[in-house]
Amino acid sequence: MKPDTVLEDIKSRVDIVDFISGYVQLKKAGQNWKGLCPFHSEKTPSFTVNQAKQIFHCFGCGTGGDIITFVSKHDNLSFHESVNLLAKRAGITITYKKTDKKTLEKNEQIRNAVQEAMNYFIKCLGNSVDAKNYIRQRGLSNDSVSLFRLGYAPAGWHNLLKHLRHAGYTDAIIQEAGLAVAGERGPYDMFRERLMFPITGISGNVTAFGGRAFGTAMPKYLNSPETALFKKSETLFGLHEAKEEIVKNDLVLIVEGYMDVIICHQYGFRHAVAPLGTSLTAGHINRLRTLTKKAVIVFDADQAGIAAAKRALKLICQNDFKARILLLPDKEDPDSYLRKNGSPPFSSLITQSKSMIDFLLTVSKNGKIDTAREALTIIAEVKDLLLADEMLVELSDKTGILEATIRQELKTLRKRPESTKQVLTGKKL
Ligand code: UTP
Ligand code: MN
Repeated sequence: MKPDTVLEDIKSRVDIVDFISGYVQLKKAGQNWKGLCPFHSEKTPSFTVNQAKQIFHCFGCGTGGDIITFVSKHDNLSFHESVNLLAKRAGITITYKKTDKKTLEKNEQIRNAVQEAMNYFIKCLGNSVDAKNYIRQRGLSNDSVSLFRLGYAPAGWHNLLKHLRHAGYTDAIIQEAGLAVAGERGPYDMFRERLMFPITGISGNVTAFGGRAFGTAMPKYLNSPETALFKKSETLFGLHEAKEEIVKNDLVLIVEGYMDVIICHQYGFRHAVAPLGTSLTAGHINRLRTLTKKAVIVFDADQAGIAAAKRALKLICQNDFKARILLLPDKEDPDSYLRKNGSPPFSSLITQSKSMIDFLLTVSKNGKIDTAREALTIIAEVKDLLLADEMLVELSDKTGILEATIRQELKTLRKRPESTKQVLTGKKL
């Protein structure tokens, strides 16, 4: 069966009540089935399954959706993984077009080569005094090193290449995996004398690497190029390690860098993830959607950080996420802050993180009117009307501008064509 018809077929073959009964004891209650919610702890059942509509909903924690949402939330799986699991259960074989088979085989080889490279880097780390010194100097614990499977790419031009060739990989595969670069005199190792951070998908399979130079070599971080397995704009570093904690907290902590994620985890903030040196994209947010729709985004309080926070906010709103902003003291990142101050002050910073409206009012150098106008351009992006309403009320509360006025302006703004929304300045409110 072709992948695009699988979804419909799963839903017609796997009954949601049957399926969820395997996880939750369900009792018939009127039109619905009821049980104890598997997504939060409760003593009286508020988890309902509707057979007619083939959906579930918990009145206690608000979680709900279709069978695919259930699987991905319950087992912390990506959308794709959930579909595969359900397809198996429904006895559906997903067949790919013939031409795809070759690609699949090649991707499998790339996947294995990257995995083998990671194991090689881990072994090299064990043998390198310099790398172990660097790790100590950066304050990384042994637990962090093994949890994130950190490694070391030794100095030299052909170490990994020789190792992989010896293991049976062709130069073509090694290059397509982003592990070697084509040179005039043949391929050479992409990563040399760097601390290696494996990058994984949500399921934990390594797909790429980031490599940190020990000294001042440029670039500071070298990342694998995009490959068949690795799409930078859709990958969040640490998501595999963080996914359970994100669900448990119903919150994701979005930080900026590799070291920030690892040190956050090391200090007990295990719901931290980071994009890979790019700004946040819709692709990143979609990766988080089945786990939570709430984020705390950590930024440096300098001008660049504030500008980045505003951009991120817009994106968050467009994707119906709720976000709070944590501004760190100037020149600090979570890594440096945590190692200097420890967990409790960082925890307080998270608690005191600002709502979008508060954030805009704090950082704005303009008056309340201009700030309100800026906030409205962001609120206009929110598709979830209840969420937008909550923000409107807050905006009115905190600026003292009448709610009715704000609503009127928002209405006008929503009608405005996309291109003019950005340049809403100096007009009446
Ligand atoms: P930063 O320059 O803020 O570095 O880059 P950092 O994370 O604090 O790293 P340390 O503490 O100096 O080791 C933030 C993130 O941007 C990406 C990386 O993902 C990095 O973690 N980046 C940065 C690159 O991809 N390439 C670079 O050359 C620099
Ligand atoms: Mn840093």
